[in-house]
Amino acid sequence: MDLRDKIVLVVGAGGAMGSRIVKLLKKDDVTLVLVEREKKLLESIIDILDGDKTSIYECDMENLSEVEKVGNEIASNFPKIDILINAAGVGIYKEMKDIEVSEWEKSININLNAPFILIKKLIISLQNSGQGLVINLGSGMGVIAKVGRVTYCASKFGLRGMSLVLSKEYKNKSVSFTLMTLGSIMTDFGTGGMEKREELASNGKKYLDPDVIAQKIIDIAKDENRQDEYVIYPEGYEND
Ligand SMILES: NC(=O)c1ccc[n+]([C@@H]2O[C@H](COP(=O)([O-])OP(=O)(O)OC[C@H]3O[C@@H](n4cnc5c(N)ncnc54)[C@H](OP(=O)(O)O)[C@@H]3O)[C@@H](O)[C@H]2O)c1
Repeated sequence: MDLRDKIVLVVGAGGAMGSRIVKLLKKDDVTLVLVEREKKLLESIIDILDGDKTSIYECDMENLSEVEKVGNEIASNFPKIDILINAAGVGIYKEMKDIEVSEWEKSININLNAPFILIKKLIISLQNSGQGLVINLGSGMGVIAKVGRVTYCASKFGLRGMSLVLSKEYKNKSVSFTLMTLGSIMTDFGTGGMEKREELASNGKKYLDPDVIAQKIIDIAKDENRQDEYVIYPEGYEND
């Protein structure tokens, strides 16, 4: 797909991956529709945003009625959307005995229920593109059952199932779905954040480079022969 003049919605636009994706999209002069919890979290990209070609929506995705409201607003303001990139997410890494029900709900709402609701609300706008594309940022934790990740795995297994089913349901109906099944990326994501990751990296754990993955996502969006799922893991990820 030629991205020039396309309308691209990035959810989690202020995050490590979201903000990198937005920066790359700007090079193709797209119209941006950004969703973030609070506008001030877009600080890292605010300089590159052009008022005429950027719309910003605030939404706490833990709160599903807010997600429905924002989904309705975007659908009514943008009857056509070419690309939706779901790049918001939360990583609460705890074992069953330690996790609170509220943390389970938060994880499932942000990582699974919110993408579902947004896709449901925006599917007509995506179909109106004639070549609508949804890119979901999944995880190897949507394939591998890892101790200490019960909520994160449950949410990402769910997201993976949803994305792959919708790929089939919307085949030949003007919308394609691509799931990025990614191993650990060197960002501030998840319990422990960047500090923990840098410590593990110094002990030999390998991480994907966020800039490389953001570029890969843009390349996939442009590729007319894209697949339903891409699996990209750093070395040693499956044995970790
Ligand atoms: N980094 C990795 O190792 C890795 C690996 C595989 C997959 N992924 C997936 O990639 C995606 C992006 O992760 P990242 O590395 O860019 O992490 P990140 O920098 O923490 O970004 C997460 C994004 O989600 C948003 N978010 C979290 N809670 C929210 C809420 N309640 N309402 C609205 N937005 C909320 C964050 O906004 P706030 O700033 O408001 O919190 C931020 O924009 C996630 O779906 C993650 O599961 C990451």
